[in-house]
Amino acid sequence: MNDILPAEAELWEQFEEIVRDWLRAYGYRPIRMPMVEPTPLFARAIGAVTDIVEKEMYSFEDALNGEKLTLRPEGTASCVRAVLQHNMLYEGPKRLWYMGPMFRHERPQKGRYRQFHQVGVEALGFSGPDIDAEQIAMCARLWDDLGLNAGGSIRLEINSLGQSEERARHRTALIAYFEQHREELDAEAQRRLHTNPLRILDTKNPAMQGLVEAAPRLLDFLGDESIKHFEGVQQILKDLALPYKINPRLVRGLDYYNLTVFEWVTDKLGAQGTVCAGGRYDGLVAQLGGKPAPACGFAMGVERLLALWQDEGYENETLPPDAYLVHQGEAAGRFAFRVAETLRDAGFSVHLHCGGGSFKSQMKKADASGAQIALIIGDDEAAANAVSVKPLRAGFDQPLAQSKISFDELADRLGDIIFSMEDDNGSL
Ligand code: HAM
Repeated sequence: MNDILPAEAELWEQFEEIVRDWLRAYGYRPIRMPMVEPTPLFARAIGAVTDIVEKEMYSFEDALNGEKLTLRPEGTASCVRAVLQHNMLYEGPKRLWYMGPMFRHERPQKGRYRQFHQVGVEALGFSGPDIDAEQIAMCARLWDDLGLNAGGSIRLEINSLGQSEERARHRTALIAYFEQHREELDAEAQRRLHTNPLRILDTKNPAMQGLVEAAPRLLDFLGDESIKHFEGVQQILKDLALPYKINPRLVRGLDYYNLTVFEWVTDKLGAQGTVCAGGRYDGLVAQLGGKPAPACGFAMGVERLLALWQDEGYENETLPPDAYLVHQGEAAGRFAFRVAETLRDAGFSVHLHCGGGSFKSQMKKADASGAQIALIIGDDEAAANAVSVKPLRAGFDQPLAQSKISFDELADRLGDIIFSMEDDNGSL
């Protein structure tokens, strides 16, 4: 779990601004769910025999009433819970998004943290392949908006998990196949053989790759409707000229998916290369007690995307204040407070010097702050209800002329001065 220090937090804010504009452009509205939910919600939604539920959840008992609670490991379960609790599908389909920390007790490594952040997108009440394809296209646009996909460095992989009857037939075939090759299975695969054999296909064990390659493919068990849906998604991706690869072994680590699943993967981040993943989960709403409603969504890992962003050379922008206010003496100090608040009322950003010190040392801080202007208040200014203004940006060694401006005119005059300095500097 990481602290995010100011320089990095500024980069997060820049990222979040781009993300908010992007979501608005696709008609998604924000939703904020609590970070803690009753444990059974996750077991029911994500699946009891998944890595997340079996070993990665931060669960605890409420000391007051003994209720079993869990820090959310992902957002989809909470989002669907909230949608049902507030009867939100009553008015029709919903496009929703959320952003925030998720918690998984995994072994930390580059790009994998125990508290990480996701931007999650969920569309509820839509059944056709159009929404799946639009969500995929949406991701592609975000990579462009962020300037990330130079040379196609983020690849799209898709698959179809079909419907549960199709998965059941595939599962039977898969178990029969793996049983024939029992001696080649590692301990984890042995354990999963009868509980979650599909996940064996996801193994990272090099010794099992050949076995898994030759295993029965779920795609060969899909019925006409599932194939039609998958082809519908692909047709839109082709129409949009979005390159993709079908990865028959893409199974995802959460049990709620059916039909379309997808992942965006990069080679630039080492082992943790999946920056965004999701798919359709038509059964989840009913499974959590709602009237059946189809749904599709995805979530991206903010830390991973920011690592890519920094890799592309993006840096945080620290916005300097418009003015730095230096002051000395008791009357000057009290007047300085009034001046600073009045200027903030007028929309300026003002860094009020706190902590005393000589004018010289305060002026050094003013220059270092990056402010356009130093405002100076000494005993003379305080007595005259005026402020001395010294433009800073022409260089601290050759400061521009200093002028004294009365308090009443200060906000108007300051605007003119800053505007003319920005013109001179060619900025803005
Ligand atoms: P997920 O694949 O578990 O899906 O997580 C989505 C993304 O979150 C991953 O692709 C990765 O970028 C990031 N992520 C996951 N775990 C970590 C970690 N420990 N450290 C850093 N980043 C991580 C879900 O969570 C689904 N709820 C997505 C979804 C939404 N499906 C439908 N709607």
